[in-house]
Amino acid sequence: MNGRVAPRFALLLFFCLCSGCKDDEPAPAPLSSTSGPKTYRIGMSQSNLGEPWRVQMNADISRAAMARSNVEVIFKDAQNDSLRQRAQVEELVAQGIDLLLISPKEAAPLTAPVAEVYAREIPVIVLDRAVLGDRFTLFIGADNRRIGKAAGEHAVKLLGGKGNIVELKGLMTSTPGQDRHVGFLDGLAREEHPELRVVFEADMQWLEPNARKEMESALATQPSIDLVYAHNDPGAHGAYLAAKAAGREKEMKFIGIDALPHEGVRYVKEGVLDATFVYPTGGAEAIGAALELLAGKKLPRRITLSTRIFTPENVERGGDALP
Ligand code: FRU
Repeated sequence: MNGRVAPRFALLLFFCLCSGCKDDEPAPAPLSSTSGPKTYRIGMSQSNLGEPWRVQMNADISRAAMARSNVEVIFKDAQNDSLRQRAQVEELVAQGIDLLLISPKEAAPLTAPVAEVYAREIPVIVLDRAVLGDRFTLFIGADNRRIGKAAGEHAVKLLGGKGNIVELKGLMTSTPGQDRHVGFLDGLAREEHPELRVVFEADMQWLEPNARKEMESALATQPSIDLVYAHNDPGAHGAYLAAKAAGREKEMKFIGIDALPHEGVRYVKEGVLDATFVYPTGGAEAIGAALELLAGKKLPRRITLSTRIFTPENVERGGDALP
């Protein structure tokens, strides 16, 4: 011990000398077990739980947290309201969280609340939908431009390079909506395919009932539709239901995104969708990264999750990774 007494041992010795340790009396518990390992409190601000994909994200977070002994997660559901989400972030901070996880409804309104938490030196992990700028600790999500581009390329393939397309966009104030749109146009490469036209586009805000309504308008105004690209599977399903109600579903192909096993993948198996792309929730990765950050590890500012495509041809063997 190099002539020095370890502090914990010294304390134990001091305690014994003062109180008089006897053999038949329990020795004072070592200090480490009285203080116990720290349990971290993670706050999770979810933009809504009305969509199956977000229910899955929370379930993935819970499962990953339950597999660890030193973490508890406090969940808040903003019910698709940016102002409510903002207030809930403040509530979580007031509850004394050690780290914030957030999947923001919209980029701009949630940027300042996230930056404020970050400025207090509470680590912030932003999941799936981004905020503006870089005042957060880590972003975890898939590459939505890449997914959109792959969807565009697949559309070209399905249509043989020509035809009329309907695009039903996700909420365009959220980054996945913006990126899935830009990526899709890139993938269509319309300068090379002049006979490929986007004849109708609308923001269905990620919601199946909206997508169905927008598709009814598209069907009413467009005598010929060859393909529907919806930014998520609920949107593609809503469009399919509208086309089916009009007796026109066989006229066109349907592409969605998310590929939950009980949603998009099932639709592909049932012949409702012609393709869907995996959009991983990142829930398990978020808990892993959170604990690394809390242990003082430095991580890159962005973790990009991979995706897969499911089609009727590959669905039974689990889809394919994107090239
Ligand atoms: C759920 C959802 C998913 C979509 C993701 C984009 O709210 O709309 O369907 O892939 O959000 O952030």
